[in-house]
Amino acid sequence: MSRTYRIAPSILSADFARLGEEVKNVIAAGADWIHFDVMDNHYVPNLTFGPMVCQALKPHAVTPDGRPVPIDVHLMVQPVDALAEAFALAGADLISFHPDASSHVHRSIQAIKARGCQAGLTFNPAMPLDVLDWVIEDIDLILLMSVNPGFGGQSFIDSTLRKVEAARRRIEASGRDIRLEVDGGIKTDNIRRVADAGADTFVAGSAIFGKSDYKAVIDGMRQALA
Ligand code: DX5
Ligand code: ZN
Repeated sequence: MSRTYRIAPSILSADFARLGEEVKNVIAAGADWIHFDVMDNHYVPNLTFGPMVCQALKPHAVTPDGRPVPIDVHLMVQPVDALAEAFALAGADLISFHPDASSHVHRSIQAIKARGCQAGLTFNPAMPLDVLDWVIEDIDLILLMSVNPGFGGQSFIDSTLRKVEAARRRIEASGRDIRLEVDGGIKTDNIRRVADAGADTFVAGSAIFGKSDYKAVIDGMRQALA
């Protein structure tokens, strides 16, 4: 089956001293979405950036010919709702959270959608997908972690492939248009396997920002997907 693939560079691995320029450069290199990793030093041990940085980057998230590029916010925070709302106001287009970080998953999803954003659920490598039994009708995105969240540059965990297949089956059974995104350890040489398992959207941080020629990496990923 042919799918529209999307590549979402994670600015976690960008040069934080030049974030606006990095966003522009990676969009010029072909990024479809900008993946924005929010870490709170509580749900995960690391600490990154908040809604004010999202708001500052929003004007830079456009293609050279002026089309907006979606900001894909991945919340690794607990609790969820107040920050989700702040990111919606700061210009996020998609907001995903970890269901185990919210006491009221359905309510958090509705709070995101009420602010006009698309809502996603994120699953750590050892987390089951069961919650989807009850909320798949309400979400726009499933984000599967293929590393434990908190840091860039980790190795892809292979059991994710089985989970991608399982999530794809759930999406098909739902009959809904839901993006299936995979996050962590994605490189040019494994992206095809992840796509073959059923993913359509790929986060890549260190693979892209770790190289000087972002376009060469993104083109290489698209070639692998073709
Ligand atoms: C990890 C983040 C990822 C990370 C991926 O907690 O959610 O988005 O930036 O980085 P790489 O592509 O380097 O594994
Ligand atoms: Zn992420």
